[in-house]
Amino acid sequence: MALLIDAHCHLTGDEYDGVGGVEAVLDRAKEAGVKRVIVSGFDLDSSREAKSLAETYASVYFTVGFHPSELEKYREGDLEELGRLAAHEKCVAIGEIGLDYHFPDNPSPDFQEELFIKQMELADKLRLPIVVHSRDAAEDTLTLLRAQKELLKKGGLMHCYAYSTEMVKDFAALGFYFSFGGTSTFKNAKKVKESAKAVPLDRLLTETDSPYLAPEPFRGTFPNECKNVRHVAENLSALRGEKEEELQERIFANAKRLFPKLK
Ligand code: NI
Repeated sequence: MALLIDAHCHLTGDEYDGVGGVEAVLDRAKEAGVKRVIVSGFDLDSSREAKSLAETYASVYFTVGFHPSELEKYREGDLEELGRLAAHEKCVAIGEIGLDYHFPDNPSPDFQEELFIKQMELADKLRLPIVVHSRDAAEDTLTLLRAQKELLKKGGLMHCYAYSTEMVKDFAALGFYFSFGGTSTFKNAKKVKESAKAVPLDRLLTETDSPYLAPEPFRGTFPNECKNVRHVAENLSALRGEKEEELQERIFANAKRLFPKLK
């Protein structure tokens, strides 16, 4: 019997309207053996909606935070509101937060850093781990996290990890866990696969980042769904040469260790 977790996904948009809605997505996930789903906020509205999904569905937990690419929506007072949402018994972390330099019209690096640190301070105050989104910003992310080490007492998750095996060591030394999703199943994703093999067994997690990045054999389909985390887990066990069932149990235990509010 499968024991799977989708540690990072987005179910708060309208992407699922055409495929039966969120309830159908969660039913299909349950049938595939996905026991827990962590819905990630990326701005204030999606954080509120994630909380409401967690209140509706037993398998759903959530995180709240401002994604670095969404910071133009940030308003004075929003951090306090995030703090109130995060006090919920099913809010397991502050996230996704971080740095994203991919698109030239993203918010300025200075503003991204400022809000990243403010949200880390909130996590520290609430004794919660963080979920980090970092894209094309490896060095700056590592430098910032090292400088703010005292805010990382509850650790964190590098979601959809895509950096080098060398940096796995650096982030792990700061207490980070690493989750892998669809990209780790892509044939040409050599670097991600190497990193997925290099992560210590007690720091490994699985995710889908639904509705994005569907894994093989569904690469390119939209929307991706939580049930597909099964293919991520199968691929990880093949890559790492570990037994599927054992790996699933270890990953589930890792999620509970990183997110103590996860039951
Ligand atoms: Ni995400």
